[in-house]
Amino acid sequence: MPFGRALAPGMLHRPNGSHAEAAARISWCVAERALGVVTGEVGAGKTVAIRAALAGLDTSRHTTIYLGNPAVGGRGLYAGIVTALGGVPRFHKAALIPQTAELLAAEEHERGRTVVLVLDEAHLLGADQLEELRLLTNADMDSHSPFACLLVGQPTLRRRIKLGTFAALDQRIALRYAMTGMSQTETKSYLAHHLGLAGRSDTQFSDDAVALIHQVGRGIPRAVNNLAVQSLVAAFATSKAIVDESSARAAVTEVTTE
Ligand SMILES: Nc1ncnc2c1ncn2[C@@H]1O[C@H](COP(=O)(O)OP(=O)(O)OP(=O)(O)O)[C@@H](O)[C@H]1O
Ligand SMILES: [Mg+2]
Repeated sequence: MPFGRALAPGMLHRPNGSHAEAAARISWCVAERALGVVTGEVGAGKTVAIRAALAGLDTSRHTTIYLGNPAVGGRGLYAGIVTALGGVPRFHKAALIPQTAELLAAEEHERGRTVVLVLDEAHLLGADQLEELRLLTNADMDSHSPFACLLVGQPTLRRRIKLGTFAALDQRIALRYAMTGMSQTETKSYLAHHLGLAGRSDTQFSDDAVALIHQVGRGIPRAVNNLAVQSLVAAFATSKAIVDESSARAAVTEVTTE
């Protein structure tokens, strides 16, 4: 399956400019223990870019906490952090909050490790959760940040944080990065890259097929994946050796009229 989801960090498509730039900025954000916001449309490659950047961190000096589902309620954020740091979350929130702060501080001061907190799907974070996050980031009378934090989500996330009530959080954001779709050249090499992983180095997509897939998928990796798979199926069904424009067009009809 050339366009599957399970990609090891070493199997990623590197020339993807947006992806490479996101990874570089994320690494900087972690080194600075800053607060970063990475946004992008559905399927733009946010989670993949975060995973790649985290995989490149020195595991002896970093503790990564990845929370993929913000729909965990009021205690959830704290409980998730405490559990990831090896603690047993205290029952009452009043006790859980200092426990979280203590564990985060211990990671830094006693073990010399930087905690990297990643909140994926962060556009779903509630107002109270955003506020709690802000409170967690001001430790030691706001002299420094005890951990690096990355908020990852759809474009609405940026707008939400900009709202007046979160101004304090907004001002703490050191990194803002919006992932965009690939250029047509990148889509072309992206397709070739994935086919290469599946063992084919010869041309499988005609140039006009690539152009159509790029245009309809707007260079968004997951959309391109879906169109590419359907194009291959269409070419196979009509006994064609390569995906030409008519196979790609059949795929477009298939994917967009579901
Ligand atoms: N750099 C890359 N190299 C190879 N494949 C990629 C790359 N970036 C994204 N993809 C492909 O695109 C798919 C979608 O990427 P990803 O899951 O990171 O998107 P997302 O922005 O997190 O989407 P969502 O908003 O739905 O969570 C991946 O499953 C993978 O197949
Ligand atoms: Mg994702």
